[in-house]
Amino acid sequence: MPDHMGDAEHMNKRVAVMGAKGHTGGFVVAELRRRGVTPIPCGRATDLDAALLDADAVINCAGPFAATAAPVIESAIRAGIPYLDVTAEIEVVTDTFASYAEAGIPIVPAVAFYGGLGDLLATMATDDWPAADQITIAYALSSWRPTPGTRATGRVSAQRRDGRRIVYSGHRLQFRDGDAARTEWTFPAPIGTRSVVGEFTMADSATIPTHLDAPEICTFMTSNAVDDLRAADPSGPVAADEHGRSAQTFLVEVVAQSDGMERRAVASGRDIYAVTAPLVVEAACRILAGTGDTTGVASVGARFDAKDFLSLLSPEHLTLG
Ligand SMILES: NC(=O)c1ccc[n+]([C@@H]2O[C@H](COP(=O)([O-])OP(=O)(O)OC[C@H]3O[C@@H](n4cnc5c(N)ncnc54)[C@H](OP(=O)(O)O)[C@@H]3O)[C@@H](O)[C@H]2O)c1
Repeated sequence: MPDHMGDAEHMNKRVAVMGAKGHTGGFVVAELRRRGVTPIPCGRATDLDAALLDADAVINCAGPFAATAAPVIESAIRAGIPYLDVTAEIEVVTDTFASYAEAGIPIVPAVAFYGGLGDLLATMATDDWPAADQITIAYALSSWRPTPGTRATGRVSAQRRDGRRIVYSGHRLQFRDGDAARTEWTFPAPIGTRSVVGEFTMADSATIPTHLDAPEICTFMTSNAVDDLRAADPSGPVAADEHGRSAQTFLVEVVAQSDGMERRAVASGRDIYAVTAPLVVEAACRILAGTGDTTGVASVGARFDAKDFLSLLSPEHLTLG
């Protein structure tokens, strides 16, 4: 039986959205409305404690999360409501797991394109395996025009790491110096073989190891997207359809390997910021309906039936396989 509930279940629910005026926050507010949930938009001037007392859950879209995750979690704990965020910051995910394991509310960090989608795909790919030798995540983006929030987040994360890179190897996150090597990865058709940058470690490398046993997580990002991200051009995403989505397309391929066997899970779609909204709103709706709502910190892949979760978003928001 699917573990989601019909949208009628969410009527009369109210969800606070921190950073509601941001690019991603706007998609989240619209998705909540579409699901019949009443958003409570919050920003810097909001008395968060008062706003959360009136809410059934809070979704934090205000990044860099190094500054916002802990205060919003503390406010959610005082209000006794579930907390979800869309952080892409590895250090914030690990800090949240370390600091709030015993919290009396459900806390779900990184329910987003980075952190959540790869976690769900890895959970689906590993399925009944007790462990994998390696999990590989390969991202193909047609382009990447980052928002101001993404750029600010990149600067904050680089500062926290002293400019070093991070990789998940030998069962732990480790620092690496120097530039990551470029190589090639063959994505499913029609993308095919593309130049990729290796060790492009994103929040998935912090969420996956919290519940899946794999000593190595290898990551690749198409080189064109890395070049876009590093370009001086400050222009952000441009709306290209009636939902405000840009023309950017994505494909995420996760390969799990164990004892010479290989399993794959693939998702593709449009606009990495826009797709974050149905991911985090679906997680919030499930928790509000009483599914996957255990207290303490757990990732989206650990809380829900990954296949059922992704199937529900397909084909409207994602194409699987
Ligand atoms: N994991 C993923 O795949 C994923 C996907 C989408 C977004 N994200 C993350 O989400 C964050 C927001 O991205 P975005 O695209 O929405 O950026 P954005 O359009 O620049 O919006 C950022 C929002 O955060 C608010 N904000 C920033 N710092 C704040 C603070 N200290 N207190 C209160 N509000 C604050 C901003 O408010 P002001 O306008 O008042 O500054 C603005 O509303 C970024 O960290 C980004 O990395 C991650």
